[in-house]
Amino acid sequence: MKLAVVGAGIVGLTTAAGFAELGHQVECCDVDAGKIGQLASGVVPYHEPKLETLVRRNAEAGRLRFGLDPEQSTSQAEVIFLAVGTPSGDNGHLQLASLWAAADKLGAWQGGRPRIVVIKSTVPVGTAERLEARLRGRLPPECDVRVASVPEFLREGTAVRDFFEPARIVIGAPDPETFERLELLHRRLPAPIVGTDRRSAELAKLAANAHLAVRLSFANEMAALAEQTGADYPAIAHILGLDERIGPHYLGAGLGFGGSCLPKDARALVRLADEAGAPQTLVAAALRANAMLPLRMARKLEAALSGPSRRKVALLGLTFKPGTDDMREAPSVRLAAVLLRRHPGIVLTAYDPSAGENAKRALPSAVRLCDSAESALRGADAAILVTEWPEFRSLRAEDFKSWMRRPILLDGRNALDAEALNAQGVVCIGIGRLPATPADFPTGSAANSLEWK
Ligand code: UGA
Repeated sequence: MKLAVVGAGIVGLTTAAGFAELGHQVECCDVDAGKIGQLASGVVPYHEPKLETLVRRNAEAGRLRFGLDPEQSTSQAEVIFLAVGTPSGDNGHLQLASLWAAADKLGAWQGGRPRIVVIKSTVPVGTAERLEARLRGRLPPECDVRVASVPEFLREGTAVRDFFEPARIVIGAPDPETFERLELLHRRLPAPIVGTDRRSAELAKLAANAHLAVRLSFANEMAALAEQTGADYPAIAHILGLDERIGPHYLGAGLGFGGSCLPKDARALVRLADEAGAPQTLVAAALRANAMLPLRMARKLEAALSGPSRRKVALLGLTFKPGTDDMREAPSVRLAAVLLRRHPGIVLTAYDPSAGENAKRALPSAVRLCDSAESALRGADAAILVTEWPEFRSLRAEDFKSWMRRPILLDGRNALDAEALNAQGVVCIGIGRLPATPADFPTGSAANSLEWK
């Protein structure tokens, strides 16, 4: 089948390369000339495992082509995917300017079967219907167009795997013929295909991300309660996860959820729900709880260090999760801002294996970016592990003790072996756990008001 994808971000590019791999002829376009130039020479301009190999293989085989002009790229396509960004506006609504702009550039065609335009971008409920009306108003009457909603559930860092092994494929179609054509297109993917109406497909996407956000805030608040009551949150998460009604995923406590999707989509759902007269109070509370976590970590640091203002503190990991270079709504940015505001004079160093220029752009300029964990940790009075990159797990107690002025680690993701580190003289305090206890380290509630001497 001839396909076109408008938008070469992670979702659009993975969709384009994935369908090309399945044997379709795919044209992918984007307004960003720099990005298209890189893609045309086989370079994927962001960190996404396996995507570059997939793109190169299919471009070399002639099944995947790149362009800048949506009219040209979509002119032969039977199915056109719109995968453009829908960022949060000031009011929390998803902004649809790029979607309308992309739709307005689609060219006319000569009769034949109806063209299908698929919205992949995350959008407010009712957008597919609005888009169809807009296209029909603009295109000549012989251009029959159907707009469907096939929301994307892939995660950054595992996008390629998620494309080929999705948990489910949701097809919100306006009529049975459109559903059948899209079902045929997706049939080779090993997943249940759920056919539904367009509004349900659109809301299902927002609901999925909002559900994850609520679950994560539950995990983080439960971890805080465990900390205050002398219980161990990782043990609790394990116990909860063994209940098949609950399951083990998205119970990991940390510094909060970030990225370009969960916070944005949860905010959008709250706005949409308020306007629809069906408030989503749980989702709103999840967002508020999430926003508190950097402050909570700052207070932990204050408890572990007397007078952080004059101290050097290292941040390990900056991206919103490992396996990406994405700094959008990363907890590290809010944490750095909170620490700098509360402790003028604090020296913040930071290292991330992948964030590169994105970190420079996103973080306050006072943060000193380093090119290794060692250089960030050298002379530090404490370190906060913000993102659980695997390389931090290979740091040894000896490394922390020899590089840092004082080996105090606040492990914001429970990624390190606190007991082993502690046994070797490193103070490692996890999330939702009592501090590991070297002989001279207070335990229980005393730890909450600790002044490290
Ligand atoms: C999320 C959804 O998981 C995808 O299904 C969806 O397609 C995507 O948004 C989207 O709408 O495009 P992603 O933004 O890549 O994917 O992020 P996740 O892997 O879901 O992680 C979100 C945040 O939750 C991260 O900050 C992560 O560190 C945090 N998290 C995750 C935890 O704090 N604990 C956990 O146990 C799991």
